[in-house]
Amino acid sequence: MRQLRRYAAALVTVLLVTGCTPRDDGYRAGAADAGDPYVPGSGNGGYNVGDYRLRVRYDPATDRLTGQATVTATTTAKLSRFNLDLAGLTVDSVRVDGAAARHRHDGAELVVTPAHRLDSGRRFTVDIAYGGVPAPVTDGELGSGGLLATADGAIALGQPVSASTWFPVNDHPSDKATYDIEVTVPDGLAALSNGVPKGRTSTGGWTTWRWVEATPMASYLTTLVIGDYRVDTSTHAGKPMVTAVAAALPTDGPAAASLARTGAVVDFLASRFGPYPFDSYGGIAIADDRIRYALETQSRPVYGPGFFRSGANGKVIAHELAHQWFGDAVSVARWSDIWLNEGFATYAEWLWEEHDGGRTAQRNAELQYAATDWSRPSVDPGRSGMFGDAVYKRGALAVHALRRTVGDDAFFRILRGWVAERRGGNATTDDFVAYAEGVADRPLKPLLDAWLIGTGAPTPL
Ligand code: TRP
Ligand code: ZN
Repeated sequence: MRQLRRYAAALVTVLLVTGCTPRDDGYRAGAADAGDPYVPGSGNGGYNVGDYRLRVRYDPATDRLTGQATVTATTTAKLSRFNLDLAGLTVDSVRVDGAAARHRHDGAELVVTPAHRLDSGRRFTVDIAYGGVPAPVTDGELGSGGLLATADGAIALGQPVSASTWFPVNDHPSDKATYDIEVTVPDGLAALSNGVPKGRTSTGGWTTWRWVEATPMASYLTTLVIGDYRVDTSTHAGKPMVTAVAAALPTDGPAAASLARTGAVVDFLASRFGPYPFDSYGGIAIADDRIRYALETQSRPVYGPGFFRSGANGKVIAHELAHQWFGDAVSVARWSDIWLNEGFATYAEWLWEEHDGGRTAQRNAELQYAATDWSRPSVDPGRSGMFGDAVYKRGALAVHALRRTVGDDAFFRILRGWVAERRGGNATTDDFVAYAEGVADRPLKPLLDAWLIGTGAPTPL
């Protein structure tokens, strides 16, 4: 009987601590996802992250990653517990504000119950020790994303999901944060990531590379590239530039030649879109054929080998670098608005091509107009349509239609002002339309609706 009473008392304590009390004291569990139907399970509610401090060690001999993450966040509600996204690794310990916290790993969700409940608007830090052999997350519709072991190292890359395969994260673009990333790898290998290079140190056969991204970054824009690379560090327009080409690719080949144009392309784009939004530049050319994409990872895009198979490719460089303004500096608040990234990046390819002596943007628009399937919308194209022509090509056509309608002067004022006003944050299609209308001082919603979501061909421009 005494034992029973003790059990009951313990149960009450547990209920109090977890916030599942019969009395409603306002403390709740943070949501287990961001509520974005394109990425069920991704992101979390109840807090905003300000900064991630990541210390990871990766051993290519065993594919094992050992990590120590410090997440600094602010609650947006009274929290009894909260989630982070972490796919497939093992958590050894969690501390909240230095005190041991209970944790449970449920699929790709790490559920943390702090020793003390958290009031709303409160800053808190979470220290997580974790490790294991990372595996990419496979997605039937969107392909795989995340940390992929390669012959000589690893590549963490993917959209919309990648980060949660190598660190605990609020894995949704609506919660941007700064990053301080230290990666420890065997001597002789490169360990590249986002942002400003902060040097490297070696001890006992291991080298630690440190990177700092001090401008808020969406989690899918983080990358980690470990392996045998030719790393070139220089300065461009007063900021560090780090480019890296896989040692397996030829020294004077098309990948190296394309990456070497990074500075010229960035300067051209800055002349159109306004100042480059980050404090470092670069690019990484990988050799692993399993990666069939390029991705606009912040300040340092990663390019799959396929883009350079038939020679140098300035267009893919222009595309990924244009994303630094459209997608990275100004990020989607929800994935259904991804045309705000891809429409502008594709349009930037057309601008670059014209500047580089090729086809004009007008000609590209005419060709694209003739090839467009108007039954598919650019806005909310469906999860399986996230990377389809309606987003990339129809989105670019809408950008061109806006330019032709308001004229070059207002058009480039809209683009520059949009980035200047929104950089570091998130935006929606409605935000963009309202902003454009304000700058042009005329209604533009009917026009943009016709080009973005209308089901018939708009009058050509
Ligand atoms: N957003 C990338 C681009 O347009 C392309 C992309 C789509 C991608 N899905 C991906 C890149 C998955 C890496 C992984 O440049
Ligand atoms: Zn793109």
